[in-house]
Amino acid sequence: MGNRTLTIAAGGGFDQVSLDNRADPPAPAAGEITVRLRASSLNYHDYGVVKGPMAPRHESRIPLSDGAGDVTAVGEGVDEFAVGDAVVSTFFPDWVDGDATDEGFGGTPGDGIDGYARESVTRSANAFTRIPAGWSHAEAATLTTAGVTAWRALFVNGNLKPGQTVLTLGTGGVSIYALQMAVAAGARVIATSSSDEKLERLRAMGAEAVINYRDTPEWGDEVRALTEGRGVDHVVEVGGPGTLQQSMKAAAVGGHISLIGVLTGVNGDFPLIQALLRQQRLQAVLVGSRRDQQDLVEAMEATGIQPVIDRHFPLDRLVEAFQHEESGAHFGKICIDI
Ligand SMILES: NC(=O)c1ccc[n+]([C@@H]2O[C@H](COP(=O)([O-])OP(=O)(O)OC[C@H]3O[C@@H](n4cnc5c(N)ncnc54)[C@H](OP(=O)(O)O)[C@@H]3O)[C@@H](O)[C@H]2O)c1
Repeated sequence: MGNRTLTIAAGGGFDQVSLDNRADPPAPAAGEITVRLRASSLNYHDYGVVKGPMAPRHESRIPLSDGAGDVTAVGEGVDEFAVGDAVVSTFFPDWVDGDATDEGFGGTPGDGIDGYARESVTRSANAFTRIPAGWSHAEAATLTTAGVTAWRALFVNGNLKPGQTVLTLGTGGVSIYALQMAVAAGARVIATSSSDEKLERLRAMGAEAVINYRDTPEWGDEVRALTEGRGVDHVVEVGGPGTLQQSMKAAAVGGHISLIGVLTGVNGDFPLIQALLRQQRLQAVLVGSRRDQQDLVEAMEATGIQPVIDRHFPLDRLVEAFQHEESGAHFGKICIDI
């Protein structure tokens, strides 16, 4: 039958991506399932693995951390899934519940281990959860990384309450999910983007106020002004060193800042005095556990949130899909059909 598989050579680079036909995966052992993958979605992390900075140095890798598909075989002792069930991958297959104990991406599909840019895989049943009822495979694939990260930032670490204020930065996968979840939870959202057209879309999705961060470089002050000088309760900080100072200006005394992203780089100045004077809570987030994803699936069903998919690309046009992400033209998630 064959198992079309896309690989990135050691060191990475868009010209190092190749597609070939591999053998079908083995039959599932005890505790495992086989999944016919149908969709994935792109994250900035996947971009780093394929383009190069985060590529494995000495070995090739099947990229993509997000994978959704249908169960085609079930190993002994697996009673959570049956053949035909739609499932979506988890970012940390070994982190089932509770607090994180492992450091980094060593066990992450599409980084430390092979990911889901392929037609079929056999893996531990713990590496998957069910998908929200009625969702397509592509929609479900957006949950693994972007969805769980936004969920954990706002609800697991942030303990977001109705009536609180949330600031989201830009219109990538994590930020759009955070906006949708915050609005659904009855929070007030202030959202930023570099594009006026995207700002209109954010408003239409329920953002109470929007700011063009290109036109307003001191957007932290603008957020303070929009909150009567108080600042927001939560910041979904996807920018990194180039945005952190403004995010800290935008956050209230005691405000919670989820350190999530590195869109502007990985090193920079840290305004320690400001953090001390305003007693802000900076909490780094690395996606979440399988339990977080299961809770998220239920929350998606309860709220009726639908993921925002910008475009679909077929697997053999993965590089083009990453170039689209690189251009920054997207709004929400870019999906891969397998
Ligand atoms: N820690 C974690 O667990 C975790 C999980 C997922 C993602 N991340 C990180 O979070 C970041 C976002 O990931 P993603 O997958 O959502 O990315 P993405 O979909 O590629 O989003 C990129 C968007 O971010 C916005 N952006 C770029 N530079 C910006 C800046 N200086 N200020 C504000 N917004 C800016 C742009 O929005 P506009 O076009 O609207 O300006 C751009 O379209 C990445 O750094 C990623 O590595 C971390």
